[in-house]
Amino acid sequence: MAIETYISQEKIESRIKELARQIDQDFGGEEVVVVGVLNGAFIFVADLIRQMKSPVYFDFIGASSYKGTESTGKITITKDIKVDIKGKNVVLVEDIVDTGLTISELNVLLKEREPKSIKLATLLHKPAKTAHPVSIDYLGFEIEDKFVIGYGLDFDGRYRELPYIGIYNG
Ligand code: IMP
Repeated sequence: MAIETYISQEKIESRIKELARQIDQDFGGEEVVVVGVLNGAFIFVADLIRQMKSPVYFDFIGASSYKGTESTGKITITKDIKVDIKGKNVVLVEDIVDTGLTISELNVLLKEREPKSIKLATLLHKPAKTAHPVSIDYLGFEIEDKFVIGYGLDFDGRYRELPYIGIYNG
């Protein structure tokens, strides 16, 4: 099994600093409710909020999707946020947008709760696979249609702890 480095730790770090600055500027010191999507976003969101200067209220949301089946193309919420986001600024943070199903469904779900604003952030985006187009406000890196691991992303529950994004070559 070989893992090829695709995006280095240094590149990730400096991109996250830029994204944090962009978010801070957009909210001008107002509180931001940052909602991280489990499981994959846990490392990205931890690094992102530590670079932000805006006051942050943080929670995780858990979602699982059933892809490539006859299913409804819907997601199941496995863990909901506890905070009431009505009238709040929300930034929803994903690890990777692949088909876009997860982030677009979560966006709809959270919008129904009447936040003041909702913005979408993702570390990675694979535009080749997008079936549910969403407008991403804060994007780390656009990537090719490859299966990536590390920095929170897993292959069968493993490799999330790698400090860089790698390509898994079996
Ligand atoms: P979507 O709903 O199709 O956009 O899928 C998003 C989810 O699929 C992500 O949160 C990841 O958990 C998973 N995923 C998609 N592509 C990859 C990948 O290349 N590596 C690891 N997980 C991935």
